[in-house]
Amino acid sequence: MLAGGEPVDFDALPIARRSSPILRVAVLASGRGSNLQALIDAQRAGTLPVEIVLVASDKAQAPALRRAEDAGIATLALDPKSYASRAAFDADLFARVAGHEPALIVLAGFMRILDPTALAPWVGRIVNIHPSLLPKYRGLHTHRRALEAGDATHGTSVHFVDAELDGGPLLAQAEIPVLAGDTPDLLAERLLVQEHRLLVACVAEIAAGRVALVDSRVRRDGVPLGAPLRLRADGSLA
Ligand code: GAR
Repeated sequence: MLAGGEPVDFDALPIARRSSPILRVAVLASGRGSNLQALIDAQRAGTLPVEIVLVASDKAQAPALRRAEDAGIATLALDPKSYASRAAFDADLFARVAGHEPALIVLAGFMRILDPTALAPWVGRIVNIHPSLLPKYRGLHTHRRALEAGDATHGTSVHFVDAELDGGPLLAQAEIPVLAGDTPDLLAERLLVQEHRLLVACVAEIAAGRVALVDSRVRRDGVPLGAPLRLRADGSLA
């Protein structure tokens, strides 16, 4: 509510006015929630100035929801099977998420293709983490596919989301070497450590107002990126 008691029309406000100094973040997750946990841990450690206002899932049993509850974060579970269509599910999901007034939505293992209509108002305010060096290996089984291709390196990407599966402008990547004897599980385990660091670094840059999507291009300090930022050993992006 405004001081005068008028309800706030959030859709009518520019993004900057919607965000408080502490970035309000909603996280969507379908499973384990280790990337969510990395955000929670960084926020608690004081290295990530955000407030996680909601964790939502398409799976009521998702461990991510339990992690959120343990952290005292509001949760929401919606069952896609109880909706007539993907569009109806996504419309309701995003409407409910919007009710928590996030300035940013983070897809942290949210394993669904998004309906373009529901997504449209959020473009520029929604990011996804994916376990490959996009544009390589969109979709599933990325670790196995990297091994089968004989890649020397593998990695993870954070990107602004558009209607394409694992598509949209790249923000940053972290790379790891593929080692002799690697299996998909070993590779996934080593990469996950970097996923956590990369996601925290990216959300921190967005929270600091350094990185934004403007005119379909990712800009850092106002300058369009020529290539995705890279995660450095000290956890910063360059
Ligand atoms: C992560 O590896 C994330 O990159 C991947 O799901 C996993 C979720 O793990 N996301 C995608 O594949 C999206 N296409 P988590 O639940 O432990 O964060």
